[in-house]
Amino acid sequence: MKDIKQPPRFFGRRKGRPLSAAMQKRLDKLLPEFVLPAGPHTTDSLLACFPVDPSASLSLEIGFGGGEHLAALAKARPDTAFIGAEPFINGIVSLLRHIDEQNLKNIRIWPDDVRLMLDNLPESSFTSVYVMFPDPWPKTRHAKRRIFSPSMLDKLAFCLKPGGSLRFASDHPVAKSWLLAEVLRNSAFRWTAQSAKDWRLRPSNWPQSRYMVKGEHEGRASSWFDFKRN
Ligand SMILES: C[S@@+](CC[C@H](N)C(=O)[O-])C[C@H]1O[C@@H](n2cnc3c(N)ncnc32)[C@H](O)[C@@H]1O
Repeated sequence: MKDIKQPPRFFGRRKGRPLSAAMQKRLDKLLPEFVLPAGPHTTDSLLACFPVDPSASLSLEIGFGGGEHLAALAKARPDTAFIGAEPFINGIVSLLRHIDEQNLKNIRIWPDDVRLMLDNLPESSFTSVYVMFPDPWPKTRHAKRRIFSPSMLDKLAFCLKPGGSLRFASDHPVAKSWLLAEVLRNSAFRWTAQSAKDWRLRPSNWPQSRYMVKGEHEGRASSWFDFKRN
């Protein structure tokens, strides 16, 4: 019998509040313009999706939520090509609003589970990968739903250039320890922190995200982790 590979199951929300007519219009008009084709891709075919120099750097944000962090990065670094993956449709519309209002040209959107695109990305092609405040899934029985599985980290290591960065942040005690332990276990990555302040304080060039602000208002301390690809 033919081996039919099942797509990974996504456990988060794909839809929140119903979209207003204006939001639906923005989605219909702008998503086709900013959507990332499925691939398989080479570095050149990825960069050809952007109006940037063909020697530009590529970056990926996984689970961009409302897109605040991704939009701020894209604005600060117009010569970098950013791919954002997010299956939550209200988040995609929010990012499209940032793109529209700030006239950002250097973002392409994968409007689905990142795991459906990682196998189609080329080796040693990305300079940075960002994972900001991933869903914590704190219960042990939900541990398999957490974003950093060994196979996910192997795929990220494959896509990152040597010396590239894997940056992630969390404000949840269980998630922080888990994320950190998973990445430390993978020999492709090394932690850049020299002292506690390196993970306790938000580096000045890390933009805020919606969940970060929410966590701070609710009194939760965030931790910031910066790893390099060996
Ligand atoms: C807690 S929210 C954080 C959003 C945003 N990064 C922030 O800091 O405001 C986690 C986000 O990750 C997204 N997410 C979860 N699993 C994902 C996956 N496999 N691929 C892409 N996005 C994912 C969820 O849809 C959700 O929007």
